[in-house]
Amino acid sequence: MKFFIDTANLKDIQEAVELGVLDGVTTNPSLMAKEGIKGTDAVMAHYKQICELVDGDVSAEVIATDYEGIIREGEALAELHPNIVVKVPMIRDGVKAIRYFTDKGIKTNCTLIFSAGQALLAAKAGATYVSPFVGRLDDIGADGMQLIQQIVDIFSNYGYPTQVLAASVRHIPHLIQCAELGADVVTCPLNVITGLLNHPLTDKGLATFLADHKKVNG
Ligand code: G3P
Repeated sequence: MKFFIDTANLKDIQEAVELGVLDGVTTNPSLMAKEGIKGTDAVMAHYKQICELVDGDVSAEVIATDYEGIIREGEALAELHPNIVVKVPMIRDGVKAIRYFTDKGIKTNCTLIFSAGQALLAAKAGATYVSPFVGRLDDIGADGMQLIQQIVDIFSNYGYPTQVLAASVRHIPHLIQCAELGADVVTCPLNVITGLLNHPLTDKGLATFLADHKKVNG
């Protein structure tokens, strides 16, 4: 399973890189805004900085919602760096654009996936990744994990190469359930990744080992 970090914060990305477990990055316009990145030049420069930090795919989202605009923005993003994956929303013109990018060999991530049908359509258009948002489904009382299971099953039934990138992953149980269900990738904030380090019995056991060593060795 691949671990992506879901942030545009360079410090968090660097920390995940240093842990040695990071396979890629996902961003979205809200995460870019959270870092105070504004204006096309600054946005492009920031994506480039992220790509230089990480040896893996970096999803950069288009803002346009019309076909020509998505193509124009996506091509400019793809030219920035070979790590860029063009992130396109699940809308009619987005699906058409995914087909165009796929035919040109440009990687895509179809975002804002909330149903198995949307995921199937994105896979048919050739998306590299689909991003079902599990946390936001849970927020409205639906079952994010059930959607992951459906998409994993459907892609496996037909051997679609599109990867299931579980997004809006908010906590460790989400991540572990995605792993159990066979999601190809999870993207989550740094605290979910580093949270995997923790277990009270590890802390207790280590304290005992070090205390016993000290008793004998001083
Ligand atoms: O990858 C999509 C993600 O950023 C959405 O997460 O927590 O805002 O639903 P969240």
